[in-house]
Amino acid sequence: MTAPAPTAAHVTGSPAAAGEPVIRLDGLTKRFGSGADSLLALDDVSFEVRPGEVVALLGLSGSGKSTLLSLLDGLQPPTSGDGTVLGTALARAGRSELRALRRRIGFVFQQFHLVGRLSVLENVCTGALGSLRGPRLGLLSYPRAVRERALDGLEQVGLAAHAFQRADTLSGGQQQRVAVARALMQEPGLLLADEPVASLDPESSAQVMRLLARVARERELTVLCSLHQVDLALSWAHRIVGLRSGRVVMDVATEGIDRATVMRLYEEVAAESAEGMAAAVAAGATVARHPVSASALVPALTKGD
Ligand SMILES: Nc1ncnc2c1ncn2[C@@H]1O[C@H](COP(=O)(O)OP(=O)(O)O)[C@@H](O)[C@H]1O
Ligand SMILES: [Mg+2]
Repeated sequence: MTAPAPTAAHVTGSPAAAGEPVIRLDGLTKRFGSGADSLLALDDVSFEVRPGEVVALLGLSGSGKSTLLSLLDGLQPPTSGDGTVLGTALARAGRSELRALRRRIGFVFQQFHLVGRLSVLENVCTGALGSLRGPRLGLLSYPRAVRERALDGLEQVGLAAHAFQRADTLSGGQQQRVAVARALMQEPGLLLADEPVASLDPESSAQVMRLLARVARERELTVLCSLHQVDLALSWAHRIVGLRSGRVVMDVATEGIDRATVMRLYEEVAAESAEGMAAAVAAGATVARHPVSASALVPALTKGD
């Protein structure tokens, strides 16, 4: 199959500008520790994400991606600055407000975080726990409507045939698709994903990213997904926000952007350290100079789903 040129078209066209931003950050700062040994993990981060936007958070290891995602999920408070997510002010919200916020945010982790000994279907059902009272033990302890919705979700991610298998018998790519179905059980107003394909092979990565693009499009879901591969970010997202040492160093729409520009920006991001440069090269930053080595992910992503 001849792959079309990589564009963000398979996510969807840029969403309408209408509506309050789902995420609004103004000078968000996070410092770990205090005194001379403290570490500034997020430094004056400001940007907005509009409803339906699919944004890649691009940065090398240690640039602050996971910290930012955990702040957005209300798991830790900012040190200073303002952040509003789905209308909740992160710095001012109390515990119960933050819990309520988390129920409206789906989160997909790099390591899937499924319960391996439980069935695939029960894992998906756990996504509804936030809206159910009391603990659940066993698949039949979930209301029938939840089980049916979970099965529908598994169908959407192409894994209904595996519903009654133990989750740990699935491949990594399949487990991540189950994790996506689990996150969707919350009917989230925002989906956050922290390097969801970092531990997957290229084909599984492409499948998971295609799935995220499809659910974003079908549900008009706002998605913020951290990645460290330039090609992937460019071919998948509407927009790329680049982090370096906790600072936003790039905020560009992917539509019509010159690929070499992103690569150059990213190389500048990475050139901070020799280690960073090596990571940038591994992430595909040499593609601009050697087009034949373009990541296998890009053509794979443009296949229909
Ligand atoms: N709980 C923590 N305590 C102290 N330092 C932390 C903590 N979490 C992250 N950091 C530091 O903050 C910086 C950003 O980390 P992180 O957000 O995990 O980056 P990324 O996800 O981009 O790899 C790193 O220097 C990391 O060591
Ligand atoms: Mg991380």
